[in-house]
Amino acid sequence: MDPAYQQCIHPDCGATYGIEEVHLACSACVAQGRQSLLDIKYNWDRPDVPKSLKAFEHRWMTKGEQGQGKLDFSGVWRFREMMKFYNDENDIVTIGEGRTNLQDARLLAGRLGMKPGNLFLQYEGLNPSGSFKDNGMTAAFTHAKMIGANRVACASTGNTSASLAMFASLSQMTGIVFIGTGKIAYGKLSQALDYGAKTLQITGDFDACLRRVREIARDRRELGIYLMNSVNPFRLEGQKAIMYRVLEAMEWEVPDWIVVPGGNLGNCSAFGKAFAELKELGLINKIPRLAIIQAQGANPLFELVNQHGIHWNDGRWDTDAVQNYYKEKGDAHTIASAIEIGRPVNFAKALRALSIMDGVVREADDETILEYKAMVGRYGFGCEPASAASVAGAHQLIREGIITPDQRVVCILTGHVLKDPDATVKYHTGINMKAVQDTAPRTEPTGMIANRPIPVPDDLEAIIQAIGAPVESVSDLGKHPGAPDNDPLSHLPVSEY
Ligand code: F0G
Repeated sequence: MDPAYQQCIHPDCGATYGIEEVHLACSACVAQGRQSLLDIKYNWDRPDVPKSLKAFEHRWMTKGEQGQGKLDFSGVWRFREMMKFYNDENDIVTIGEGRTNLQDARLLAGRLGMKPGNLFLQYEGLNPSGSFKDNGMTAAFTHAKMIGANRVACASTGNTSASLAMFASLSQMTGIVFIGTGKIAYGKLSQALDYGAKTLQITGDFDACLRRVREIARDRRELGIYLMNSVNPFRLEGQKAIMYRVLEAMEWEVPDWIVVPGGNLGNCSAFGKAFAELKELGLINKIPRLAIIQAQGANPLFELVNQHGIHWNDGRWDTDAVQNYYKEKGDAHTIASAIEIGRPVNFAKALRALSIMDGVVREADDETILEYKAMVGRYGFGCEPASAASVAGAHQLIREGIITPDQRVVCILTGHVLKDPDATVKYHTGINMKAVQDTAPRTEPTGMIANRPIPVPDDLEAIIQAIGAPVESVSDLGKHPGAPDNDPLSHLPVSEY
């Protein structure tokens, strides 16, 4: 039996695939007209699988630039036995991700009428690129390196693109990001540009961008594009580590609730898988409940679960009802641009996570999200709008009596406050910075390695042309990834990272 493999999540299929294969969906199901997602599965009979979570504890203190020290330094790879899909530790791509904080948010708890000591905020904005995405990217880049990919791409509302761009630059792969014109907060756009990703501004929203990049990665294999969105099951393996760190910070005591914002529904899916595996291995004795909070203007999971009665149903959920719902539903709109998503690709896995974790789904409108964002800023380290949906949702569940005062609640703050300064400035001053930016006079950028975004219509051939031909050799990567052919830094030597 292989130590790790990929497996279709559909209960009537269960097809398996090798760990070094690249699939964006189960091929056997696609042949039957179904788009089933894949999981990474492990043979847990390995001798290195820990008998107790405390076995991970000593690694927190290890520091080192090389070898195992470098892996222990990572808040993802110090739990590597829980995600051992790689064969060779040298393939692991790590930039020191996942060294994040669980804050006992006593001041905020007081404001929300909770007992101090019962509300915790997990600050994933403290990752190197400023969001939780680094947890997933480190795993997906490791897989990309394992299979020899050198061009990676994603569609993004901003954070995935920032994280991809940073990892691509540091691992000398070419990063290509698809973002919807005007749909991304400036902090995130500035990161993708600064890290040198080829940044395609597509006329359309996130859902349109994701459709295109999936199409290109799946149907145009000759372009050699490795997809980094969360349909890539390796991404979600890394994101399980957010839950391991929460447990670690709580001295391995399982909280009562995990509350997380939901957009493309990858994070909540990863959490469900993390807890199912820990329980299966006997490493925890209870599973916390899950609350997924969506923005009211981007709430397909909320409506499908609470109004249309869609449930996991052992994997046989009502796909026709969901397709009909999507046909009727318009585009997503919310101030929380990170979660402005109308067709979440991990819908099935999110239903499964709700089932594993006895979960609930709630929504918060934009005004409410901004109020709770301001409270997290006032009584904590701050977060971007989407992240504050978790706190808004937790408070709502307390008022409903579903979360009780004696319960311990962990809200996941997914992105840093500096990601979307416009939202913060507008809340406190009333100035609409986006409108100011749109009308400001423009000049041509003159910086030596200025990396201008490329506007592209939502058209397959135009996008393929903008992406350009695959790089022929590693020496081509001497150019700053995504930089124009006359990149003035191209003469600089490239050393191994
Ligand atoms: N919070 C933030 C700050 C995000 O950037 C995202 C997703 C989410 C929450 C939702 O997480 O998709 O796993 O349910 N951002 C993606 C992106 C879509 O492109 O950056 P999810």
